[in-house]
Amino acid sequence: MSMHIKTPTEQNPNDVVFTPAAWAADIVDFFKPYGLSLDPCRGGSVFFDALPEPKAWCEIAEGVDFFQFRDKVDWIVSNPPYSIFSKWLDHSLELADHIVYLIPVNKLLSSLQKLHKVYRFGGIAHIRYYGTGRDAGFPFGFPVGAVYLKRGHEGPVEISWYHEARP
Ligand SMILES: C[S@@+](CC[C@H](N)C(=O)[O-])C[C@H]1O[C@@H](n2cnc3c(N)ncnc32)[C@H](O)[C@@H]1O
Repeated sequence: MSMHIKTPTEQNPNDVVFTPAAWAADIVDFFKPYGLSLDPCRGGSVFFDALPEPKAWCEIAEGVDFFQFRDKVDWIVSNPPYSIFSKWLDHSLELADHIVYLIPVNKLLSSLQKLHKVYRFGGIAHIRYYGTGRDAGFPFGFPVGAVYLKRGHEGPVEISWYHEARP
């Protein structure tokens, strides 16, 4: 049986949006991942390039499917495909102790089901706001933040602001 790899144009267009390199660099600099890091959907590679060694990547457009990746990692850092975020979150929570996803925050905060999954894992340790989707050229105007999910987290949720997004 031949395997069909989805090209970016066959995917939901909202799933193939590329993060500004300055945002990705700030996220890595702010959260300082250590140990083995994974970018599960590297796209144009802005997160992967910014991550410290050792590091690994997946990208469906290059024939490497995140859902086939089964190794444990310390950190996952990226901007995931939003239309399949629920399934994506489930797989991420299985692989890593620390997960930082740049997402429209309502994707997580407006879903009790997803919040329950996250709080069974630990919790939200931090949300760093970057602006609206449109500020990054994404096709939506919802606020976008880097949400840090931490296994076993029991403390409060901290909030910080990228310099361009400060109130
Ligand atoms: C929102 S884009 C972000 C790309 C890049 N991480 C960035 O921040 O610029 C999501 C990426 O996920 C990729 N993708 C979708 N499904 C995937 C899968 N099952 N495994 C790996 N990558 C996938 C898409 O091709 C796309 O490049």
